[in-house]
Amino acid sequence: MDIEIGDVTLRRGDLIMLDFALANFDKRAFDDPARIDFGRAPNPHVTFAHGPWHCLGAQLARIELQESFRRC
Ligand code: HEM
Repeated sequence: MDIEIGDVTLRRGDLIMLDFALANFDKRAFDDPARIDFGRAPNPHVTFAHGPWHCLGAQLARIELQESFRRC
């Protein structure tokens, strides 16, 4: 089955690549997405993917990043 997204037609079997970083800049989901705001809420970012593909190291990565910023 073909799917229309905007001006693009995706055909059965087409290979697509999702850009998680780009999704985090979606103005429909984030107010002023380019602004760095550690207190942003809600913050539905997909930096660590989503659902069954969610990053298994996300909690470790968060701790590492918090520790890095704490030491700055
Ligand atoms: C800022 C740091 C990190 C980011 C942004 C990140 C991001 C991601 C993303 C987007 C995926 C999904 C990839 C896909 O769709 O196939 C993923 C998967 C995964 N990540 Fe991370 N990751 C980070 C750190 C880590 C760390 C520190 C570990 C382990 C110590 C880790 C372990 C994994 C594993 C094992 C998967 C595969 C999960 C699965 O397919 O079930 N990641 N990560």
